[in-house]
Amino acid sequence: MNYTPEEMLAIARKFETTGNITEIKPLGPGFINDTFIVKTQGEKASKYILQRKNHQIFPDVPGMMKNIEMVTEHIREKVIAEGGDPLREVLTVTFRKPGTMTDAERADPAGHLYFRDAKGNYWTMCVFIEGSVTYEKADTPELCYKGGKGIGKFQAQLADFTVPLNETIKGFHNIRWRFTQWDEAVARDAAGRVRDLKEEIGWIDSRREEMLAFWSLVENGTIPTRVTHNDTKISNILFDGKGDVLCVIDLDTCMSSTSLNDFGDAIRSYTNTGAEDDKDLEKVSMSIEMFEAYTRGYLSQRKGNLTQSEIDNLAFSARYITYEQVLRFLMDYIDGDLYYKTAYPGHNLVRTHAQYKLLQSIEEQFDAMNDIVKKYAE
Ligand SMILES: Nc1ncnc2c1ncn2[C@@H]1O[C@H](COP(=O)(O)OP(=O)(O)O)[C@@H](O)[C@H]1O
Ligand SMILES: [Mg+2]
Repeated sequence: MNYTPEEMLAIARKFETTGNITEIKPLGPGFINDTFIVKTQGEKASKYILQRKNHQIFPDVPGMMKNIEMVTEHIREKVIAEGGDPLREVLTVTFRKPGTMTDAERADPAGHLYFRDAKGNYWTMCVFIEGSVTYEKADTPELCYKGGKGIGKFQAQLADFTVPLNETIKGFHNIRWRFTQWDEAVARDAAGRVRDLKEEIGWIDSRREEMLAFWSLVENGTIPTRVTHNDTKISNILFDGKGDVLCVIDLDTCMSSTSLNDFGDAIRSYTNTGAEDDKDLEKVSMSIEMFEAYTRGYLSQRKGNLTQSEIDNLAFSARYITYEQVLRFLMDYIDGDLYYKTAYPGHNLVRTHAQYKLLQSIEEQFDAMNDIVKKYAE
């Protein structure tokens, strides 16, 4: 990040802030984007979040920002209709100052939502939500419950959103597309590792049909397509001082798919008793207590509004998403470690084994998971 304070100020001034900008400070560690907090002074002083979007990971920033605009507008209407605070209970995107826009930017349907600087980097701004609290990790049942409630509320607000969103990350959670990549990777055997991976490849092959069967239900419309958030970690939910959900943020990955993906991915990450790359497989399992807490929170918001097909497949979605992650770690290992950053040789294989252990634990507890879903879906 090589930007002088003057350059940062010039970037922030491309956006329609109230008050004069007095300070721009980096915020938090930021895994994906570079996030800054912008302070202003004046009659209607406010704070803003300025972000440099990582366009290596998100190649279509305009499409992404258009998605965010549509989703937040929809939620805003709901919040206003229910007498809530539209500046706190939904993310507010800050538009470009019209006077700073070029003709080409004006012609772009997403041109008011981002600024592309001379280095080719994309910048966006939104309103900072004052007095909000975030949690770094959902490591207690209480936080799992809150995480479930946050994502459940987000999906409830978007239950009647029918416009297809831009597919900003191709084939995300589409196992049919993953298998195409998988078959190519195994055939290519780029790193010469396939011959030592008979057992692991068997884990993938033996579950292929059931995973495709699930995805077929999405493709043929049995399971409805809704808005998915696709990054449901608890640090992406803002809470108020009392611990109640304000809104879901980090909407970069919002797309149209089955909302079961969000549930499955949350279970995969919230309930693991070990680390994603644990070498000690004894430590890795799914905590049924955490599963119950998340499910209780999620269904408190979605009860009565999910289709029977969604309820029937809710627990299975955790198997689906965890299986996909086993496949992705193993595929990257086969490819010679191109996608996931590795800290040591064989790191992706360690991840594969740990994720597979989690998958087995989920499979073993599947009946209990279905019972829990039934209990809270009624
Ligand atoms: N509008 C906002 N209001 C208050 N805090 C925010 C806002 N947007 C982001 N944050 C804080 O900044 C952190 C990182 O922002 P996020 O959009 O999640 O970026 P990243 O993609 O790097 O995770 C969040 O976890 C939250 O603590
Ligand atoms: Mg985030």
